[in-house]
Amino acid sequence: MGTVWLQQAFKQAEDGEQQVIAWRRQIHRHPELGFEEEQTSQLIGTTLKQLGIPYERVNRTGVVGRLIGAQPGRVIALRADMDALPVQEKTGLPFASEIDGKMHACGHDGHTATLLGVAAALAPFRAQLNGEVRFLFQPSEEHFPGGALGMIEAGALDGVDAIFGVHYIAGIPSGKVGIIPGPMMAAPDTFTLKVTGVGGHGSEPEATRDPIPAAAEMIEALQTIVSRRVSPLKQAVVTVGTIHGGYANNVIADEVTMTGTMRSFEEPLRRALFDWMRQIVGGVAAAQGVEADLAIEEGYPPLVNEARMTALVQQAVRNVFGPEGVLAIPPSMGGEDFSYFLQHVPGAFAHVGVHNEAKGIAGAQHSPTFMLDETIFLPTTQLFLQVVADFLENGLSGA
Ligand code: NI
Repeated sequence: MGTVWLQQAFKQAEDGEQQVIAWRRQIHRHPELGFEEEQTSQLIGTTLKQLGIPYERVNRTGVVGRLIGAQPGRVIALRADMDALPVQEKTGLPFASEIDGKMHACGHDGHTATLLGVAAALAPFRAQLNGEVRFLFQPSEEHFPGGALGMIEAGALDGVDAIFGVHYIAGIPSGKVGIIPGPMMAAPDTFTLKVTGVGGHGSEPEATRDPIPAAAEMIEALQTIVSRRVSPLKQAVVTVGTIHGGYANNVIADEVTMTGTMRSFEEPLRRALFDWMRQIVGGVAAAQGVEADLAIEEGYPPLVNEARMTALVQQAVRNVFGPEGVLAIPPSMGGEDFSYFLQHVPGAFAHVGVHNEAKGIAGAQHSPTFMLDETIFLPTTQLFLQVVADFLENGLSGA
């Protein structure tokens, strides 16, 4: 389609490929955890300034850059997250983490470097641009409650018509992009369940209210939520991850504490999971004469891709990665706080593959051997450019 500047911007991105790799390696050497991304934030600020893109700091270490075209038009937001993980790197790469116990083990270094590459490729074409490209560099994706909400509260989405983002994913081969319309990532909720009875001597159960068999019954009964209450056509998870209770072999405990996680894709089912858990736990507690205190902490909402924006990205993937580039992935049970942005404006999130067995790039996401195939930075940069052109210039319909 007839966007004058797009081919030139593609060329600009090719010329800037080595710079994106250099930025990524610089960020990779100096990983920073959520809301501590000071150096990363400064690198972004300095780079945007050099590109002549005005920016402001929001939500502590977040950065919002605004490339406002010479002609009026719509506003498209592009988002990258910036935080690392408390993982000890074991890749042996020459640019491995220089900080003990911290590592970019989820690829957010690549997300940030790629988005800087998009800004660098677009900046020269401000005079030809209709509308605005807004760059959202978000702190703290890994740790609930995340950095997205604070950016929205600070006005990062004001006036925005659509938003797009990507995640580099170890489970997808390099050269493929996984994206589907509708629910693509789950709501990761958590719970703490405290069962309180009356403790006593291990030889005198009649004088106690033992919380341990009650807890065991609750665990068994919770398994029936997914097997007997959730429709077999829907997806959900209820996991009891920890259980702690008791003091000695001859002591009946007075308390058992369990923690766990629930995953689901739709708000009604999510609420139903909470209700069923309360019902089951309360019923078992009443039957066994113990007290149960179930505290549910809601995590990120499910990530739901808007249909037309997803189609726009899929078409852009075909243009840039080739006709076979789009992968129809199954929804992921993982969570992602990009979902908050999608609650406010239409948009889509894509999983860009980085797995490359031939290059020895096979470490799992969040593992000490996680690596990125840096050859995907250039096509991902161009994917963003194509999406910007299609949304701002080619009249593809938004909201
Ligand atoms: Ni991540």
